[in-house]
Amino acid sequence: MPLNNKFLDQFIKVTSKAALASSYLLGKKDKNAADKAAVDSMRSELNKIDMKGKVVIGEGTLDKAPMLYTGEILGTKKGPNLDIAVDPVEGTNFVANNLPGAISVMAIAEEGNLFNAPETYMNKIATGKIEKGLIDLDYSLEKNIKNLSDFKNKKISSITACILDRPRHKKIIDELKDLNVNIKLITDGDVLGALYVSEPKYNIDIFLGIGGGPEGVLAASALDTYDCHFQGRFIFDNKKDINEAKQMGISDLNKKYELNELIRGDSIFCASGITDSEVLSGIEINNENYTSETLITHKNSNYKKIIKKTSPI
Ligand code: FBP
Repeated sequence: MPLNNKFLDQFIKVTSKAALASSYLLGKKDKNAADKAAVDSMRSELNKIDMKGKVVIGEGTLDKAPMLYTGEILGTKKGPNLDIAVDPVEGTNFVANNLPGAISVMAIAEEGNLFNAPETYMNKIATGKIEKGLIDLDYSLEKNIKNLSDFKNKKISSITACILDRPRHKKIIDELKDLNVNIKLITDGDVLGALYVSEPKYNIDIFLGIGGGPEGVLAASALDTYDCHFQGRFIFDNKKDINEAKQMGISDLNKKYELNELIRGDSIFCASGITDSEVLSGIEINNENYTSETLITHKNSNYKKIIKKTSPI
């Protein structure tokens, strides 16, 4: 099987080291420098792994991103053919301003199994495991919330919804308030936002709203191992994005993607904390060593764990 356990340790090292690299830029008010440090580290670590790994979600097209660009082949080219999605710093504002919630993230699947997401927004909805057809992007917000409250046998006033705090979400937020749903607003970082539905300990029943498309695919790959529900619809609202989508072979611009259309088969998801969050502790540096926390999931072995590791810098 191509995605064997050996890869788990190697990928943990990749995101941990990327998190360490960007942590040196904490609070320096420089999003780009924080991102670049993580990109450089991630690329160099991925290149040490025995695989032929193709970046299907990366830093952008080759003309915009010289490293980890979409289509770049990484690894020693001696191992299996894999698809890789990377977000070296998810929550660049958090690093620039030394705020909680920044992570370094990656997802890996066998070749052809990870959706090559356009760099547009995506309308997303995620919940824990539910009955098929219960929650849908095409239902009204009220229907989704009522269905979820019935299914969970919880009053609507005890349901908590997580959503990015953006003006574009004003209508949804107002409606959630009218329904008497508890709202958890996040200022950035909707990979973690979606991940909150994976475990009851985070106390989020539903994640919804519009965020980055690539972040949607990354979240879906983690939620797959948790057997959660996720749907996404890319938003193509200008000529440039429409043309790019067509070039990428997306013919139905209004398609609603189910989780297993974004990630199929075996996969690994790996996220290391840069700064603290409800899910992961951030990087701690102690003299010559650093400690990182990484959430790792492996679909085929149903493995999901937070790994705390201290390693030499
Ligand atoms: P960056 O780390 O690339 O800055 O992305 C942070 C983020 O909050 C994502 O988690 C989210 O999907 C996206 O930005 C939302 O975009 P916008 O800030 O344009 O609403």
